Parts: sequence; structure tokens; C-alpha cells
Amino acid sequence: MKLEGKIAVVTGGASGLGKGICQSLAREGADIVIGDIQEALAKTAIKEIGETGVTCKALKTDVKKTMECKALVEFAVNLFGHIDFLVCCAGGGRDYDAPAPDIEDLVKRDYNAIENLPEEVFDHIVDLNFKGVFLSIQAAVPYFKKQKYGRIITISSVAGRRGVNAGAGLMTYSAAKAAVILMTQSVACEMAPYHVNVNAICPGIIWTPSWAENALLLSKTVPAFKGMTPEDVFTIVAKHEIPFGNPQSPEDIGNMAVFLCSDDAKEITGQAFNVDGGMRMN
Ligand SMILES: NC(=O)c1ccc[n+]([C@@H]2O[C@H](COP(=O)([O-])OP(=O)(O)OC[C@H]3O[C@@H](n4cnc5c(N)ncnc54)[C@H](O)[C@@H]3O)[C@@H](O)[C@H]2O)c1
Repeated sequence: MKLEGKIAVVTGGASGLGKGICQSLAREGADIVIGDIQEALAKTAIKEIGETGVTCKALKTDVKKTMECKALVEFAVNLFGHIDFLVCCAGGGRDYDAPAPDIEDLVKRDYNAIENLPEEVFDHIVDLNFKGVFLSIQAAVPYFKKQKYGRIITISSVAGRRGVNAGAGLMTYSAAKAAVILMTQSVACEMAPYHVNVNAICPGIIWTPSWAENALLLSKTVPAFKGMTPEDVFTIVAKHEIPFGNPQSPEDIGNMAVFLCSDDAKEITGQAFNVDGGMRMN
């Protein structure tokens, strides 16, 4: 139990990687506060994570909004008296304030060509994946500075390590995730005098609701994938893109989060760790 008595705030913790990270931290004894825009999923996550024996609570949070990020951190501090870890995992492509995208319509509009990407989609991807991380960090930093201790983990991506040749939406995502790595380094410099370690994790390819939607779109737009199921597309991409030939799991990312939150990582800050089976080597 490396993290017993510690308090972790995890944005995007209601599903996918975020939930995996919550489960890994909880297994090491940390109490969890989830900030997620999807309330129903958060309720399920609370139940599952609570089964490990820790306290798990959630607050509906849109990380694109300053006041909601502040309210999340205040909620955690009011509950537990302080916070130890902030994991900024909310991200991806979907705007949960908007209706679910019609995949056939996206395909018809050749949505992935740069000239067709709507400006509001660009803004959403940057706001969620970059500004949302900034706002979450901004909300937590006064508490960390005061207590002169804390750990911040940002979730970037293999897509933040290199440009992608996979359409304008992913190009925007890739740029936002690269910006997260540089912001992580800068925040690490600012927070070092306060003994707050700030690091990024760059996950590889993990089957989550986001990837399922991505694979469905690929099956309809990439000729080589035509007619395949999203699961088959995902398996083939993982096999061809990852030297180990297999995808990662949420637990793989959770294990790295546990390490970065533990005393074992006390001398590590300003770094970005690829957890991707060798997909990126920079
Ligand atoms: N799945 C992968 O292969 C992969 C690879 C690299 C990086 N990532 C990153 O990992 C993170 C999680 O991705 P995932 O694949 O688990 O996706 P996911 O869609 O399963 O989970 C994303 C979570 O973020 C929440 N969220 C979305 N918008 C939000 C908002 N405005 N405010 C608060 N919460 C919000 C969702 O409700 C959801 O619970 C993202 O930052 C993603 O970019 C994923």
C-alpha cells in the first residue's frame, strides 16, 4: 500500500484510462475524487473503485471551465482536508455538451481534410486537451504551494510525440498533446521550489470508448479497413504500430501513475514517460 492516506483528484476518471488510473491508485490505498463531465459513468466508477476499500467521490466537472475546476479541487479539500495528487486525464475528441456525432455525416463531409475541419471542432479539441489541463493545474496549484508538497500528472499521448498523418482532427489533438508536454515541463520548473513533482505520461494505444469511436470512423474512411469491425481495426493498428505488437491496458498507465505518485519517484520531475510498447522512442 504505497499511497495509503493520500488523496488523488483525477479528471476524466469516470471511464477509460482515467478510471484505470483511479483503480490503480485506489489499489495502493489512495482515496479518489473524480471530476468528470459524464455523471452516470462517474456513478458506476465510484461503485467499482469503492470496492477496493477506499473512499471514492465524484463531482460533475467540465475541465474547459475555470470555475468548475476550482469547484472540483475545493470539493476534494473540503472532503479530505487536503489533496496530494492531481491527475489530468480528461481529454479526447468528443464534446459531451454536443449531440453525438453522426459518423456517416462526418464521412460524407470528408471531415478529416484540413480545409473541412470546423473551427469550433478545432477549438473544442484544444480547449479540452490543452486548456483543460491548464485550468485543472491552475485550480490545484495554490493548495500544493501552501502545503509544499504534491504530485501532478498530465496525460499526453504518443500523438504528442510526433505529428500524425491521420486527419485534421487528430492533427489538432496531436498539437494539443505536444503542448501538454511542454506545459508540464514549465509547471515543473515553477513548482520545484514547493517540492511538487510534475510529470507527463504518454500512453500508446488503449481500447476505450474514445478509441472505439475512432476505430469506427477509420473503418469507414480508410480503404484498407473498409468493412472491418472497430475491434479488428484496433487490433491491426496496434499490431502494426507498436513494436511489442499488442495494445496497452488502462492498468499499464495506472502502474506508471502509481510510480510517479510514490516516494520512489521523488527525484523525478519535468519528464514525459512513454507507456506504449516502444511505439515512440523519444
Ligand atoms: N485511449 C488511448 O489509446 C489513448 C492514448 C493516448 C492518450 N489518451 C488520452 O487519455 C485520456 C483518456 O482517454 P480515453 O481513451 O480513456 O477516453 P474516454 O473517452 O474513455 O475517457 C475520457 C474521459 O474524459 C471525460 N471528459 C470528456 N470531456 C470532459 C470535460 N470537458 N470535462 C471533464 N471530463 C471530460 C469523459 O467523460 C471520459 O470519462 C485522454 O486525455 C486521451 O487523450 C488515450
